[in-house]
Amino acid sequence: MIHRLYIETVGCQMNMLDSEMVVADLRKHGYELTNDVKQADTILYNTCSVRAHAEDKVYSALGRLKLLKRRHPEKIIGVMGCMAQKDQTTIFDRAPYVDLIVGPGQLQEIPGLIEKIRAGGEHEMAVGLGRRDGSQDDIRKSHVTFDPLRDPTMRPTPYQAYLRIQIGCDKFCTYCVVPNTRGPEQGRPPAMIVDEARLLAEQGCLEITLLGQTVNSYSYTADGKTTDLAALLEMLHEVEGIKRIKFVTNYPKDMGRNLLETINNLDKVSPYLHVPLQHGSNEVLQRMKRGYTVEDYRDMMHRIWDIVPDAAISSDFIVGFCGETDAEFQTCIDSIREYRFKNSFIFKYSEREGTKAQDIMIDDVPYDVKQARNNELLEVQNEISETENIKFIGKPVAVLVEGRSKKSEQFEEAGKPIQMVGRTHCDRIVVFEGNDRQAGKILPVTIFETTPFTMFGTVVTEHVGPEVFSL
Ligand code: 5AD
Ligand code: SF4
Repeated sequence: MIHRLYIETVGCQMNMLDSEMVVADLRKHGYELTNDVKQADTILYNTCSVRAHAEDKVYSALGRLKLLKRRHPEKIIGVMGCMAQKDQTTIFDRAPYVDLIVGPGQLQEIPGLIEKIRAGGEHEMAVGLGRRDGSQDDIRKSHVTFDPLRDPTMRPTPYQAYLRIQIGCDKFCTYCVVPNTRGPEQGRPPAMIVDEARLLAEQGCLEITLLGQTVNSYSYTADGKTTDLAALLEMLHEVEGIKRIKFVTNYPKDMGRNLLETINNLDKVSPYLHVPLQHGSNEVLQRMKRGYTVEDYRDMMHRIWDIVPDAAISSDFIVGFCGETDAEFQTCIDSIREYRFKNSFIFKYSEREGTKAQDIMIDDVPYDVKQARNNELLEVQNEISETENIKFIGKPVAVLVEGRSKKSEQFEEAGKPIQMVGRTHCDRIVVFEGNDRQAGKILPVTIFETTPFTMFGTVVTEHVGPEVFSL
């Protein structure tokens, strides 16, 4: 019997990859994807717990399914991912018509659990152990990475894929729920990662993005031999067909010289580094327990500029963290001006259950102050992104073409040419007039216009002289 699966994913790239794996697995069990929740007999939400807003959205989506489930009790509704791990049976309490709760470390159990429910079972729940609920080994074993299956239709594009190299996190920043929801940091075996990269290349993938919560802390030890990210990059560089290798998210303290030298030496490795600073004040960094000082971060930036001069660096910031004063907030503005990030993701602090900050600090910055600080910081960052992008005008860049741009339809309706979109090696978004045959190619494009977020260019048809591209 063919089943129809509707799946909605919120959150980070790790969640997108998890959904890709679950869909691939369920396809093997006779499932087809549908975009229409009403047509589906299985409805899954892959959830995020990093901020309350992401959870609220899922709970209201679940609320909208109440009537559907009353009319069609045979439909199976499941909640997977970080919120499933964090809230566990609370989800059954808040939405009793949910059938299935599966943590990020139990995804491989989904087909079996659904079958059990269909065979007349009641609620099913599979989650990992909490960080204090067993021996280190038992806790680790209860968070299993789920990787070998791939589903090309779930990828960002056919030419790009995420590749997990690490799960979990051991940094325990005081605001963050991830070490609880995704468990201890564990690196995947390098041979497995390389095999998966080969498979992706065979499927036509040109760009892989290595995923880990602190990806540059990657480490795998077997038979007395430890592989770090630099060594792994060397191995992946050899995979034929892969043209670009990116990796997110980095942890500032682990951005060592050797890794930077490797990035600079390997052509396929994108000199694009997402290294969240989170805050510009030592006092706040300490309250966040980030494990570095403003001075450490500055040293790291100089190390990057020294060794990888072309690097584009991006950051995350949290505004309105517990006790953040106006003067402390100003230091974030100073840091953005000092480091001139390519872009920054700015978040309003959201108190999370089970974190150290919730336990010992007070979420005392009013929401409207958080909002105002968010807007102010974003404005400074946009101003910088705009000035930095203008420097590209008149220069050629090498664009991996992803497909039609989001606005292409509007252009076509107005009788204008197709707008294609792609990215440079440093992850800068480039839009240009083109055609569908260009998708999946790396093309030279000369930039003629820029905004803080996008660059506009023309494909260079006759390239004269040496191939020197801006990144
Ligand atoms: N509130 C707001 N932002 C958060 N982040 C992590 N936890 C929280 C929280 N409780 C942000 C951090 C991280 C990004 C993925 O989300 O900036 O780098
Ligand atoms: Fe969360 Fe900090 Fe780990 Fe990043 S490094 S996932 S912010 S605990």
